[in-house]
Amino acid sequence: MTQIASVILAAGKGTRMKSHMPKVLHNVCGKPMLEYVIMAAQEAGGGRNVVVIGHEAEMVRESIGSTVEWAYQAEQLGTGHAVMQAENLLADFDGSILILCGDTPLITAATLTRLISSHRESGRAATVLTAIMEDPGGYGRIVRDPKTDSVLEIVEHKDASSEQLEIKEINTGMYCFEGKRLFAVLTKITPANAQGEYYLTDVLAVLRTEGEQVGAVTVDDPQECMGINDRIQLAEAEKALRLRVMHRLMMDGVTILDPGTTYIDFEVTVGPDSVIYPGTIIEGRCRLGENCLIGPYTRLKDTETGNNVTVHSSIILESSVGNNVTVGPFAYIRPGTVLSDETKVGDFVEIKKSVIGRGSKVPHLSYVGDAVIGEKVNIGAGTITCNYDGTRKYGTVIGSNAFIGSNTNLVAPIEVGESAVVGAGSTLTKDVPDGALCVERSKQVTYPGWAARKNKKK
Ligand code: UD1
Ligand code: CA
Repeated sequence: MTQIASVILAAGKGTRMKSHMPKVLHNVCGKPMLEYVIMAAQEAGGGRNVVVIGHEAEMVRESIGSTVEWAYQAEQLGTGHAVMQAENLLADFDGSILILCGDTPLITAATLTRLISSHRESGRAATVLTAIMEDPGGYGRIVRDPKTDSVLEIVEHKDASSEQLEIKEINTGMYCFEGKRLFAVLTKITPANAQGEYYLTDVLAVLRTEGEQVGAVTVDDPQECMGINDRIQLAEAEKALRLRVMHRLMMDGVTILDPGTTYIDFEVTVGPDSVIYPGTIIEGRCRLGENCLIGPYTRLKDTETGNNVTVHSSIILESSVGNNVTVGPFAYIRPGTVLSDETKVGDFVEIKKSVIGRGSKVPHLSYVGDAVIGEKVNIGAGTITCNYDGTRKYGTVIGSNAFIGSNTNLVAPIEVGESAVVGAGSTLTKDVPDGALCVERSKQVTYPGWAARKNKKK
């Protein structure tokens, strides 16, 4: 079997995005759109994948990493010129070459596989992927021979006659070529057209005049070929891909009450029998366990959870959550937190960069920062770890089975020993030994009959 390589065009600026960032780096469901195209090419068998970059080339190269090869197009002189820049890298490549665009994140490996198979079975020099569009405005039109139906040429919108503008079959900008033939005829195209560019599309007509076969494969779902040019199309692509992600999760046994108000990034995994309530955003590399109840109105980012976890109306960022944990409502779990198995974090609790040991509870109205809390600790309502003195952060350590009374201030650095008890309302600045009771507050003073005496004076 001959090999497959891909050339992905991504040198353009993407002016209509009105962005400092190159277009292909804009995220769709949490990943740069270019990455989806690369993934589809690789999944369809692309053993070598060359990305042509130009505008902000370094930024693109750095954020995409090392699974592809890079070709550089200093000046954007057209799609044909862009492909020429990959010729050196692919000089000794003798197989089929997929040409793709970096701004079509919805393209699937299945469609590319269909394009490649049709191309190979036919033995053609080139096969173009086409789509039927109700509104073909702006796209190149596929001109077919009225008798044989074979593809004659592609005419760009700006170069098309009024008759050709009526054609609804368009060029998706994706093709499969025989590599050697492609680079041989690329030298023969000229920029003699409305845009003064080297059109890759002209290669098809040149191949035909040289007696080669040129064919087409039409996509079932034109949305797969949607190119992102502005932020409105970016939002459309995001919505479509998000639905695909949720369909995958639902097929894997996750209940999603309302996909319309649920936002889940591409790399997220969720175990079966978990239920996701409306208004939930699950971003980045979240891995959620089985039988979890997430939401409503919850945001999880780069967080892992075990099984049987409930997170209600809360935010958890870059943290790790064990099994049988409940969080919320209205908790804010900040990066670097570990909630061990069987922990409970209740309403209006903020936890930052802290470890909460197995079976411990922070049920209400607390701030816990830079703390290490042992097992089966109870943190009373209104407890604050005072971890910051205006310049530095300090840690708090609380031993297993300790009981921290309500409204306690723990001025860090401080350590409360195992099984120690802290009386409610204490402000502690010194360590508490294991097993001790520690109370820091003035004695209660009571004046019997005080109210009556006060009223008499009036
Ligand atoms: C191209 C096709 C058109 C097709 C459409 C599909 C040509 C001449 N026309 O038109 O038939 O319907 O795509 O979306 O090919 N690029 C470079 N370097 C360049 C020029 C472009 O890397 O010098 C990249 C762009 O970054 C983009 C892709 O190639 O990712 C397509 O370029 P674009 O200018 O958008 O082509 P269209 O005019 O839309
Ligand atoms: Ca385009």
